[in-house]
Order: sequence, then C-alpha cells, then structure tokens
Amino acid sequence: MSDTAALYPPPTALAAKAHVSGRAAYDRLVAEADADPEGYWGRLAREYVGWKTPFTRVLDDSRAPFFEWFNDGTLNASWNCLERNIERGLGAKTALIFEADDGAVTHVSYRQLLVRANRIANALRALGVKKGDRVVIYMAMSIDGVAAMQACARIGAIHSVVFGGFSAHALRDRIADTGACLVITADQQVRGGKQLPLKAIVDEALAQGGCASVRHVVVARRTGAAVPFQAPRDLWLNELVDGQSEHCEPEWVEAEHPLFLLYTSGSTGTPKGVQHATGGYLLHAALTCHWTFDMKADDIFWCTADIGWVTGHTYIAYGPLMLGATQIVFEGVPTYPDAGRFWKMIEAHRATIFYTAPTAIRSLIKAAEANEAVHPARYDLASLRILGSVGEPINPAAWTWYHQHVGGGRCPIVDTFWQTETGGHMITPLPGATDLVPGSCTLPFPGIAAAVVDETGNELPWGQGGILVVKRPWPSMIRTIWGNPERFRKGYFPEEFQGRYYLAGDGAIRDAKTGYFTITGRIDDVLNVSGHRMGTMEIESALVAKTDLVAEAAVVGRPDDTTGEAICAFVVLKRPRPTGEEAKALANELRNWVAKEIGPIAKPKDIRFGDNLPKTRSGKIMRRLLRSIAKGEAITQDTSTLENPAILEQLAQTN
Ligand code: WTA
Repeated sequence: MSDTAALYPPPTALAAKAHVSGRAAYDRLVAEADADPEGYWGRLAREYVGWKTPFTRVLDDSRAPFFEWFNDGTLNASWNCLERNIERGLGAKTALIFEADDGAVTHVSYRQLLVRANRIANALRALGVKKGDRVVIYMAMSIDGVAAMQACARIGAIHSVVFGGFSAHALRDRIADTGACLVITADQQVRGGKQLPLKAIVDEALAQGGCASVRHVVVARRTGAAVPFQAPRDLWLNELVDGQSEHCEPEWVEAEHPLFLLYTSGSTGTPKGVQHATGGYLLHAALTCHWTFDMKADDIFWCTADIGWVTGHTYIAYGPLMLGATQIVFEGVPTYPDAGRFWKMIEAHRATIFYTAPTAIRSLIKAAEANEAVHPARYDLASLRILGSVGEPINPAAWTWYHQHVGGGRCPIVDTFWQTETGGHMITPLPGATDLVPGSCTLPFPGIAAAVVDETGNELPWGQGGILVVKRPWPSMIRTIWGNPERFRKGYFPEEFQGRYYLAGDGAIRDAKTGYFTITGRIDDVLNVSGHRMGTMEIESALVAKTDLVAEAAVVGRPDDTTGEAICAFVVLKRPRPTGEEAKALANELRNWVAKEIGPIAKPKDIRFGDNLPKTRSGKIMRRLLRSIAKGEAITQDTSTLENPAILEQLAQTN
C-alpha cells in the first residue's frame, strides 16, 4: 500500500445511520475496550446475548491460555437465534430465503425455522442424543442443514459440520476424531445441475472403520434418488420428525459449553478440530453482524459461503439469526446456469448486503469480460448497500471491479480478515466509520488487540512487516483443539512469545501513516486455494499414501490469478521419471487419488516429476527453492547447502 493509495470515505448517508457512525465513534469504542476490556465485553455480552442465568464474571484467565468467558452464565444458542426473535415479534418474519440449484425459492419464517429445528431436536433426543454428544453434519446448503445445526445447539449436542465436497476418507477421519454418535446427511446434493452423492459417501466413510461410535445415520431427502439403506442404523429424517412435537425445551448450557467443532488445516499433522464455546462465540457473531455489516431490520443479507466452513457458521447459521435478520441461503454454484447467477439472485431477492470470496469475484470478472450477458451491469443491483470479502487477500484490481461494477461505486467493501479459530471478524473496516484502501483489511474490530511483532514478540513500528498476533484474549476465540490441548497451547500461544500472544499464522504490515493492516499471507505451510485452507503436509501425506507409485512428494503453493494460490506438487516415483504422455497420465491418476483421499479442492494443479527433490546435506527438503520453481522464477537463492543442485534444472524443465 503506497501513500497515494486511494481512500474511499464512508458514504455520508450510510455513515449517518450506521450502527458505528463515523471514525470518532470507532475510536471511542477502541478506547473503551483498551481502558477496560472486561467492562467492554461484559457490557456487549449483556446487550447482544440473551442469558438464562446472567454471568457475573467476564473473563477467567486462571488457566490461560485456556481462557474462559462469562463462565458462570447459562444460555442456549438456538433459543437466542429463534425464540428470542419470536418474543420480539419477528415470528412471521422471513429468516431464510432458500434458493435451490434449479432456482426454486422457499421462504422460511422464524416461527417455521423454530418448528423444524424443534422437531429435529426432539427426534435426536428420542435417539438418545444428549448434551455434549457429537453429531457430524454432512449436508449441502439447505434449510435442513441450518435447522440441524440449530437442533444440535438446542439440545446441547456439539455439531461438527463437514463440507459436502470432502471425500469419504476425510469424512471418516473427522467422524473418528469427534467420536460422533450420529451423522446427519442427505440422499444426494445438487450443484450446477448435477446430482452428487452424500449418503453413499457416508456409507463408504463408515465402512473404512474407526467409527464404531456412530449409532445412527439420519438421512434427509433431497433428490429422492435410491440410496443404499441399512436398517436399523439408517433412518429417514422426515419419518423421524413427523411424529415429533413442535415444542422442545432448550438445554440451558454453561457459556463455555462447546457449541461446535470445525476441522481446519494446520501446517503439520492431521486437520484439527477447532472448538468454540457457546457464549463468547454468539456474542461476536451477533456483534460483528451488527457493526461490520451494519445489519438492520429491513436488510436482506447474503453470505455465499457454505455451512461446511466457518464463514457459513458465523455468518449464516448463527450471526444473522441472532439479529433476527433475513438472509439468502443458496444451494448452487455461481456459474450455473451461467456466471450471472449471483447478480440475478441479488436482483431477484433485493439483497442489500453481499458477502463473498475474492476467488468468486475474480472468476466472475473473467466470465463477465468474456461474455457481456453475465456482466453485473446487465442486472439491477441498486438494492445493494454494503459488500464484503472474506477468506483470502483481495487484490486491488478485483476490489476496484467489485466496488465499481457490483457496488455501483456507492457501496463500502468490508474486507474482513479472520480465521476458523477466531470465530468472527478480527481486522475489518466498519462501513460507516472506516475510510477504505483497496487491498487493506484496515483496522482491528473494536476490542481486538491485533499487532505486528518480530520473532521474539516485540511490537514492530508501522511500516515494518512481521508476524500478526493478538495481544489480548477475546470472547469468540478458539478454546482448544478437540482431544489435543497441547497442540492448541503450542500452536497458538507459542513459547517464543512467552505464551502471551495468540499467533494467527499470518504475516502482516501496518501502513506507516494510517496504521492500516495488510495481510501478507501465511507464515506457515498452510495454503489458501480459492479461500480454502489446506496444509501442504496433508496433501503430501495423501500423495505418499499411494504406496505402489509414490516414493516422495513435496507440495508448495504458487500464485494463481483466479484461485489466489494453486497447489504445485513435486513427486518422486518408485519407477523411472515419466515424461510426455506417460507423465500426463500419471499426473492425472495422482490428482484423482488426492481427490479421493481429501476432496477435489485439494487436487494439485501442477504435478512435476523428478528423480529426486532438492535437499540439504542433512536431508531437509528446500521448499523455498521449490516455491521459486513453481512460480517459474530463476533461482537466485543460495544453493550451496544443496546436496544435489542438478535436480533444480530438471524440475524446472518438467511440467
Ligand atoms: C486468510 C476463513 C487476507 C488468512 C474466515 C487466514 C485472509 C486464513 C482474509 C483463515 C482477508 C481470511 N485477507 N487473508 N480478508 N480472510 N484470510 O480458517 O490467511 O478458512 O489465516 O477462515 O485465511 O482461513 P479460514
């Protein structure tokens, strides 16, 4: 970001009515939080969350870094999202506008969502599911997907949603790690006009073993296709809920009771089950919807994320419902039946706030440039007032296009930086308060003590790039890694910082003049492909699991115009290095193998075969050299420690 970078001030009319109105209001909130963090979070937790038993303690840091928030209060997440709104008179208000892949639209009121969630909750209770039990949800975007999450929360069961694009193997690992007693799925899912399996993949996952904890598989009907069915293990959702009462007393849980586990990738090891607590998480979900999206009673909010990711948790399943908002839930993909789908839906539903990922924007720019008919200019997008971006850095060119062509130059873009672990927005503009600079996520959300430090934890002056940390605990932070508290402590509160700071895993730099943050990317071996987080190790493990073929593999990321980063794998086979057609065929075989092991999102874009990998004399793979090769750069780094320098040329040539 240069000094001359364009600043976009908040539109005057929007700022005047915004929940946080003007920079001075933002500064006041920051000052309040800095002066008395507990007083600040306590005030907001009373304002934004409904409690069964009010808390008297805000922060309990006696077991730091296992921080606890509001821990003598009790509440229920689903009551907060449903009854609380109905008691405010919103029972008939539309909670969800569900649009199916084929365009069919269903409106679901708060009252109807409560009834559906209650019936599912009663059915789960009848099957013996109780507080603290884990339930895996493997479903596509659907009304029942949201209702199932609410149903779990209602009875105090801990849900773990697994993205419907993950393979049987990845699903199995997650089921096994949670020790779930039940899996909720659907017969099939529909995306882009295609029917894709769900139930069959659950069967395959369970057949792989290690899932003895699963007593039942509950199956929603989506397409009506014939699917294998194993009584008495498998049960149809509709048959289960039909006889159930529409009333269901919520299970009042302690604020620290886990609301959900969500698996995400780290730089090493298997995906980790990020555990979130009920009270603190709900506070931040509601608060960020109110301030970052400035959500109001008449807004139509649309977050395009999937409920399989954290964005779909906080900004579909919980946050908007906490505020009694109306939101769009979309089953399909942005390019079906054509790449104008998003714009068409914004026009049709009069969406006012639109939240999507840079990858989607970049691919829709390409599509619009290739085909005028799907350009946003062809649609009436006048209803929009705020745009959002999430999941990866948004490059200034995409930002400017989004601002101009989707937002008509009048809608602020909130570039929200956060992570699965943080529960909600950490660094983000507030639309009525923050001047925007394309490519910068601007300033910390009030109360979030973000900072840029060096390797020893010393805060760096503005203008110097370093490591992004958070210096104070906050209510929606990760509580632990399921079943692995040591990994949580070491990974997020490392000893280099004396265990004082939360380590985000990203690098950042603050602008020398404004102090605005720009995220410079992961500092670990985590890749971000189309906004999906993946560990290089995970993909390497998948490749070497093909034991008949692969001897060794190293995976790195390289920049990609559309997906942000692309996966590049360097592979040594247990046979002579293939070339030409044979190399192509083997690369394809390996791609499909990775799709089967993890899911299609983890397929390497490039696979290069070598006789060896560049290694130091002590046998360490030199990834920085592989990164240069993957980018097509000339190697300028010092290669004197390399055992086998000739390999670089070979890898650079093969493709
Ligand atoms: C990246 C997604 C730049 C970052 C909510 C982070 C971003 C990781 C942004 C978390 C942004 C997310 N600008 N980078 N606005 N938002 N990231 O857990 O590297 O899937 O650590 O959570 O995405 O990905 P996760």
